[in-house]
Amino acid sequence: MNASAAGSLLHVDGLTKRFGQTLAVDRLTFDVARGEVVGLLGPNGAGKTTAFLCLCGLLRPDVGTILFGDRRLGGDRGRTISLIPETPDVYPMLTVWEHLAFVAASARLGPGWEPRANDLLARFGLSAERDTVGGSLSKGMRQKTLIAATVLANTPVLLFDEPTIGLDPRGQRELRTLIGDLAADGTSILISTHLIESTATLCDRIIILKKGVTVAQGAVAELRANGDAHRTLEDVFLEITA
Ligand SMILES: Nc1ncnc2c1ncn2[C@@H]1O[C@H](COP(=O)(O)OP(=O)(O)OP(=O)(O)O)[C@@H](O)[C@H]1O
Ligand SMILES: [Mg+2]
Repeated sequence: MNASAAGSLLHVDGLTKRFGQTLAVDRLTFDVARGEVVGLLGPNGAGKTTAFLCLCGLLRPDVGTILFGDRRLGGDRGRTISLIPETPDVYPMLTVWEHLAFVAASARLGPGWEPRANDLLARFGLSAERDTVGGSLSKGMRQKTLIAATVLANTPVLLFDEPTIGLDPRGQRELRTLIGDLAADGTSILISTHLIESTATLCDRIIILKKGVTVAQGAVAELRANGDAHRTLEDVFLEITA
């Protein structure tokens, strides 16, 4: 299907990645519209991280098409898709603020970036850590620093790979609010998670992977629809991935 005809911003068709004998991602196909939030669920090893690494260009897929609008992504991919990775690796020698300044410089953000950066730090309760170096941050603070720095870059597509791991309850709630705000502003978001129920409320659509294969895809209500009314998305997930 023509991507723009389908109204999609990101169009992924047949994305496949092998590691030796392991088929990590098998013909993954989906579309994400502007401002849509899509959840990528699946047990450990299902292929979520591999799919994200292929989407943002850190891994080369074996087969598959990734279109942004109706063009293939090339050297400009970094300006289009950014990833908040599974492990929060910060630069040990840079302060929290220097992480944000680094992103602002490399994404060539205009002069308005500093108030936005301050706002992001305040949202995550990181303002007091502004001048703390990465090496002295707690795990959750590292995660929050990477989230703030990546969101600051303001790319039209954002990938969150298990972003809630290590975040305290307030940080988790702030992240959900932030994702809702970003989507409302038109950012398209893919989020992989094991926190099924709290993420389901955020997502317009869910994709469930099992050993690389897409075993279900649809709106949360659609996925829940078969069976009794009290079925949760977690029930559906455990059934499908059993
Ligand atoms: N660099 C690699 N070399 C070899 N095999 C890999 C590599 N990365 C991932 N795999 C394999 O690919 C499959 C998918 O792994 P992936 O990390 O994408 O899963 P995941 O869904 O992100 O899991 P988790 O929930 O544990 O983060 C697994 O079988 C894994 O062992
Ligand atoms: Mg993973």
